[in-house]
Parts: sequence; C-alpha cells; structure tokens
Amino acid sequence: MTSAGLTARRGGPLRGRVRAPGDKSISHRALIFGALANGVTEVEGLLEGEDVKRSAQAMAAFGAEVERLGEGHWRVVGKGGFAEPSDVIDCGNAGTGVRLIMGAAAGFDLAATFTGDASLRGRPMNRVLNPLREMGAVFLGRSGGRLPLTLQGGGLKRIAYRLPMASAQVKSAVLLAGLHAEGGALVIEPEATRDHTERMLRGFGATVNVEIIDGVGHIDLPGGQVLTGTHVRVPGDPSSAAFPLVAALITPGSEVTVEGVLLNPLRTGLFTTLKEMGADLEITNIRVESGEEVGDITARYSDLAGVEVPPERAPSMIDEYPILAVAAAHARGATHMRGIGEMRVKESDRIALMAAGLAACGIGVEEEPEGLIVVGAAKANHPARGGARVVTKGDHRIAMSHLVMGLASDQPVSVDEPGMIATSFPGFVQMMVGLGADLGETA
Ligand code: S3P
Repeated sequence: MTSAGLTARRGGPLRGRVRAPGDKSISHRALIFGALANGVTEVEGLLEGEDVKRSAQAMAAFGAEVERLGEGHWRVVGKGGFAEPSDVIDCGNAGTGVRLIMGAAAGFDLAATFTGDASLRGRPMNRVLNPLREMGAVFLGRSGGRLPLTLQGGGLKRIAYRLPMASAQVKSAVLLAGLHAEGGALVIEPEATRDHTERMLRGFGATVNVEIIDGVGHIDLPGGQVLTGTHVRVPGDPSSAAFPLVAALITPGSEVTVEGVLLNPLRTGLFTTLKEMGADLEITNIRVESGEEVGDITARYSDLAGVEVPPERAPSMIDEYPILAVAAAHARGATHMRGIGEMRVKESDRIALMAAGLAACGIGVEEEPEGLIVVGAAKANHPARGGARVVTKGDHRIAMSHLVMGLASDQPVSVDEPGMIATSFPGFVQMMVGLGADLGETA
C-alpha cells in the first residue's frame, strides 16, 4: 500500500477511450455463487481489487477450488456447499464480501469467525445478523453487532423478511442463507435495490419468483434448490466509470469514453442525475452480456447546473454521491441530495467527509442528518478554488472523488492513504494519467 499521498492538479483536457474495471458487486457474487454451486464456474472480467481478492481467499477457505487463469479470468470449482474453515475469515475493507459470505455460510453446519480492517470492524452488522438469527443461525462476538463475529451455522428455517433499510447486501445475505434453509426465504423490499443476486441465482439455475405487490417487491426463493456452475462475464462497474466520466464533465475541452459499463437501471441513478444537470453524456453500443445490459458512455465537458436529487433515487446511486458532490461543486447553483442517510455507514461517514473535503476546497456545503447541499462554484472561466489536503479515513471513493476535484480546481488537491483506492479500482491512477490527468505522488 502506498504510504505517500496523491496530488491532483489542473492541467489540459482529458481525452481517450478506456475500459471500466469489472463491477465489484457482480465480482463478489460470481465467486460466492461459484463456491456454493456444484461444478465449474468460469469468470471473465473479474475485478481484481483488494475487496474481491479477499472474497476469493474466503471461498478457498470454505473449501472451493479457486484459481486465477489470467487477467480477470478465474475458475471456481464449487463443491455444492461450504466446509468449516481452519482459520479466521478476514474480509479486509469489504462490507459486501463479509455480509454476503456470512449469509452464504449460515446455511451450513460449521463454525467460522469473520473479521476485517478497522473500517469494516466499525460498520454495523446487525442488519444481517438480525434476519440470519431469526432463521436459526447463531452469532457470538462483540456487543453492538460489530466484527469480529463467530458464526455457528446450520438448521436454518424459512423467513419472510421485510428490509428495514434499502440494502442489497442485506437482501442478498438472506437469499443466500435461504438456499440452505428449510423452505427457502422471502425478502420483502419496499425500495428496489440492485438485483444482481436475483439475476445470478437464475444464471446458476435457481428459480426466484419476484412479484411487485402494491409497489413493494416480494422476492421468493423456494427451498431445496441446487446451484450449478456456469460462465459469468462481469460487466464494467458504473461506480468506477463515474470517476473518469465526471472528471471529463468538469475539465474544459475533455471528451472521454468508458466502454462496457453496466447499465442495470438499479445502478444508473448517477447518469440520470448528471443528465438532469445538463451533462453531455452519450450512451452507445448498448448490448446484453451475461444477462445484464452494458454500453459505452461518452462524457464531454459540460456547463452543469445544480439540481434536487430525490431521495427515492438513492439506492440506484448510493456509492456515487461522493463523485456527484464533486460534479455539483463545479456546477452553477446548489445541488441538494436528500435521503442519503445510508452514506454515513459506508467505508466511512461519507456525508461528513465529503462536506469536510469540499469545504476545505472553498466550496459552500451544508451537512444534514440524511442529506448534503453543495453550492456550485462555477463562474465563467473561473474554476473552483481547491487547495486542500483531504483526510479520507481509508475510504477509496472519498480519495478518488477528491482527486477528480483537484483535476478541475485552481489549486492542487491532495489525499492521504491513496493505497485504499485498490480496494475497488486498482488501475485508477494509471487510467486517469493515460487520459491526460496530472496526478502523482504528493511531493
Ligand atoms: C452493494 C450494495 C450497496 C453498496 C455496496 C455494494 C452490493 O450496499 O453500497 O458498495 O453489492 O450489494 P448496501 O446494500 O449496504 O446499500
């Protein structure tokens, strides 16, 4: 991990075509589903970020054969179930990894201890422990539902669980546990969240019945189902594509195309919002790969205007508010992001850190308990001030967002702990430099 900080400076326009790294959500799932299945799963385009590598190690620890065949090309041979691991499962920084794996493991008669880095050990786990305990799993550990936690799995029973918060991780943990619960599982989802688990269950041969009753999703996984290994092609991550695309929108003269971006409508709230702000975003070459729509997205420098982002859009762009806040900082007028309380329990308190970082860059911000207002600094031919050293608390998206901020600001912006960027986007610096960005180690 790099210990020196990184600094971004204003330079010329950004130009070029790049490929988005593999989607993090789908990469975790491909490995976990492959390990739960019977037989061989081949994955292409896997994100080789630190978070996903932790899930690969965890799947090997639970008894699957996991092998890297080439760049992004992995093979998982599943044994149709998990065996007891001989050591602690360390999921690093990955909330998705640990929550989904706890769900998947809960169905088996085994004991396993889970931990993670300081950020993950501070994040709430009761959101998955509560439904899994209701199904019959036993979790022992620190009070307040924090890692490290020891699971004693097996003997699970069907649950009908209404999600108390919009969380695809919780939905997925319950469905994965349901695979090995008597009678399966029913998840009731008042607000739709990313549906990669439902799609992938079908891809691995399972039946999932989804019904919308009075606007509320009912996801029913019948019990007694077996997964069969398959081939997964991981699409490009819209949450990562967001960084070069927003960088192009706010850097004069830029035109950047990111190829192969996942266009699942439960993931594209950022692009909808940027278009409402007046962004010149063009989506071409739309096609379907492994059951998901993907396309190439071109962003050209645009005169952006502030908007109100409705709270109901939050689940479709929950990881993108930090970079949206940067776009908003370069827009005319205020952008009000509402209903984003979940941002406070991500890898860091992202509302607080974006507010602090942008304020240090001279941007007007107002923090709300569940919202953020950013007052854009755009004036004709006059960039935002910048000129801050930003504390990221080890949060990859806080780091990348502020670096993009620095690319279009008058004065350089530095971030600490840039090594954490490798959790989700190991090639970020190289890609941005390749597009023409002035990004390098802090002197
Ligand atoms: C994810 C769901 C989201 C998101 C995370 C990935 C997933 O978390 O923030 O980066 O892969 O299911 P929540 O489910 O907690 O909202």
